[in-house]
Amino acid sequence: MLQCSTLFAKLTLLFFSVTIGIYAAETPKHVRIIWSTNPQSEASIAWSSTSLGKKHVIYYDTEPRKTLADYRFKKVQDREGAYIGTDKPSTTFYYHHAQLSDLKPWTTHYFTIVGHKGNSQEFHFITAPDNPDQSFKFIAGGDSRSNRVNRRNINKLIAQQAAADKEIIALCHGGDYVDDGTSIHQWMAWLKDHAHCTTPTGRLLPIIPTRGNHEEKGELYNQIFDTPGGKDNYFALLLSPSVLLITLNTNIPTAGVQKTFLDSTLAKHQKVRWQLANYHSPVFPAFKPPHFAQMNWVPLFEKYNLDVAIECDGHLIKRTVPIRQHKHAKDGVVYVGEGGFGVDQRKPDTNLWYLKAPAKTGSDHHIQLFSFDKDTLNFKVLLLGGKEFDNHNFKARKR
Ligand SMILES: [Fe+2]
Repeated sequence: MLQCSTLFAKLTLLFFSVTIGIYAAETPKHVRIIWSTNPQSEASIAWSSTSLGKKHVIYYDTEPRKTLADYRFKKVQDREGAYIGTDKPSTTFYYHHAQLSDLKPWTTHYFTIVGHKGNSQEFHFITAPDNPDQSFKFIAGGDSRSNRVNRRNINKLIAQQAAADKEIIALCHGGDYVDDGTSIHQWMAWLKDHAHCTTPTGRLLPIIPTRGNHEEKGELYNQIFDTPGGKDNYFALLLSPSVLLITLNTNIPTAGVQKTFLDSTLAKHQKVRWQLANYHSPVFPAFKPPHFAQMNWVPLFEKYNLDVAIECDGHLIKRTVPIRQHKHAKDGVVYVGEGGFGVDQRKPDTNLWYLKAPAKTGSDHHIQLFSFDKDTLNFKVLLLGGKEFDNHNFKARKR
């Protein structure tokens, strides 16, 4: 009798475990927000599921809501499909994308995704400001492709920073998310780890994505990030009327149409107070040879007086001296980076002229924090544990 009741208890437990497991597997997973268009009014929401069924719906509002019926707005997903990778054996996950386009600037938006057989938790994010004098911040960095323990610890640091400071509104990832950009398994692990960037109250930082050389091939990058900037993955954002951030792609030709885009974007926004570029492979590297982009982009950075270029790929910490015409010049462009979101770190080549003091170099896992106000752009590098490694102020140029 005792054996029989024990068996019954085990079967009951198994039944509920399987049921809960299946149910949990059907709730929207890997929720992320992407900014590649107008961050004051638009955001792309993306998520994953393990099966396809009825169309998923986002319920959203500018207040937190207890029930779906309370949300004032909803949007049916725009796209869905199977992630296409090269893994053998293949893993079946599906992506879902929805573009929200009627958001209010500098406002917290709350949303719940209703999936095939379950709902997500309620998440929230803050849209970009439309007031040119509104102070705000974003986190930058990249190279999260290996060492998941460090990657998760960096993500927890990002969440801690965001939880402590509502002025931090975005996460600019400079590329090399995973080692093999064609591997679904690696991307699903990255997306799972990305959940650690969520604050305890459910706030997510919109990702500003950049294609790294480890994502050079395959469609997964576009399926994960909703094809940011179109098929060539370059785009410009006004994070406020005073802050221009141009994301470029070092995996395609840097001359031709991409150079024309850079030239016309910088020309159009000449009067914008702060101007930054963001791309993966460095043109003033601290470890590797310079990327070909140096020839095509640096003359434009200098012509239009870019303030800062954010680079990745070297796996170290750097802030160069200001550079103009390959010399240290007070009014030059400063290049920072080079990726510390988890990957093992290298030693910078401190013999390079542009890395001599007052430049700053190091070798540690880190995030970069950019803080904008009317007169000053503050740049910080924070190490795991939150220790400050670099703290540098840029003065606004006369434009
Ligand atoms: Fe790289």
